[in-house]
Amino acid sequence: MKRLFINIKELLQVREANTLKVSGKDMKVLPSLKNAFLLVEGDTIAAYGAMESVDTKNADEVIDATGKMILPTWCDSHTHLVYAGNREQEFVDRINGLTYEEIANKGGGILNSAKTLQQTPEEELYEQSRKRLENVMKLGTGAIEIKSGYGLTAEAEIKMLNVIKKLKENYPATIKSTFLGAHAVPENYKNNKDGYVQKVIDEILPEVGKSKLADYIDVFCEKGYFSVADMEAILEAAKTYGLTPKVHVNQFNAIGGIQAAVKHRALTVDHLEVMPDEDIEALKKTVTMPVGLPLCSYFLSIPYAPGRKLIEAGLPFVLATDYNPGSSPSGNMNQVVAAACIKMKLTPAEAINAATINGAHAMGVSRTHGSITKGKKANIILTKEIPSYGFLPYDFGNNNIDKVMINGEFVS
Ligand code: NIG
Ligand code: FE
Repeated sequence: MKRLFINIKELLQVREANTLKVSGKDMKVLPSLKNAFLLVEGDTIAAYGAMESVDTKNADEVIDATGKMILPTWCDSHTHLVYAGNREQEFVDRINGLTYEEIANKGGGILNSAKTLQQTPEEELYEQSRKRLENVMKLGTGAIEIKSGYGLTAEAEIKMLNVIKKLKENYPATIKSTFLGAHAVPENYKNNKDGYVQKVIDEILPEVGKSKLADYIDVFCEKGYFSVADMEAILEAAKTYGLTPKVHVNQFNAIGGIQAAVKHRALTVDHLEVMPDEDIEALKKTVTMPVGLPLCSYFLSIPYAPGRKLIEAGLPFVLATDYNPGSSPSGNMNQVVAAACIKMKLTPAEAINAATINGAHAMGVSRTHGSITKGKKANIILTKEIPSYGFLPYDFGNNNIDKVMINGEFVS
């Protein structure tokens, strides 16, 4: 099947295959072709160029994109999309004055979600999760990372990872899975955190590792959750199973998690709402990418990661949703891009780079995703008629997506 898009007002994020991420000043540049065509063959981007050089002869289907733009689908490198139920009551509790931490200390928060998930059969968990995945695909997400971490027992963590595996098998979106056994200390280990860390290392991680259910390892490194030493012990143990770290750090407190993550060659450090200068410094000249999650800041009314400052420090900034029931019940990358422009002072070009090519690299798929590049997956967003790409974050209240294509097929 050959599908040809013609008269594309602007084809965005057109790059050579050797650009796997963009950093610092380069993030201001969003390479594009105006008045372009794009040819998709099967599940692959086969060709593109100026309309003057288009050849319509061999196309099975021709799609007229007059007035519309095409960009690569979003790459959402940080989500907790597999969860059971919701935490709407805690949302109201916070409106009435409780903080996220106070709710967590009362047994709410992550432990509340864990309780619900443990009681939810795998089939039901799959049903709830696949609806969320289908929804974010329609909103333009073509590659997504999903974490465990609402199980907190071997059985429930494996159940979550099995659901992620089934989603991988059943949907065209590219999915990466992350084991986040150390997301919170379960109730029955309340006074024995070290015991739980040991259980993660000795019992749950080996099971996850042997079953090859995870691509990455994560830890919530935060006061009241897991210390830097806990995180280091878990990351070290995960090396045996080839799991690269992508970790939660600096959400409420900067406790040295970034320095430790860099030492363990983490692919990403995520959250960064609290970001002292020395932590920005620690990321320079490393393989570790900073990931901002603006919808979490919006939903919890906490500071935004200093995206502007991180880019000015020359770093490859990434944007993701953090889709989860407690701190960001939205998996909408369009909202993320808008919030990054409005609240982190990123330009539209920087935000789109952070949400596509850099998002792809932040989940290890930038050889196949994240840009309009010959040979990459045909994962594209066809917009409605818009005046410019900056209109996408500007017009934040509207859905400006006409069609989404993942692996060469339109999402319906
Ligand atoms: O990334 N910070 C840790 N984990 C999630 C929130 C978990 C929850 O509240 O359920 C996050 O924000
Ligand atoms: Fe998260």
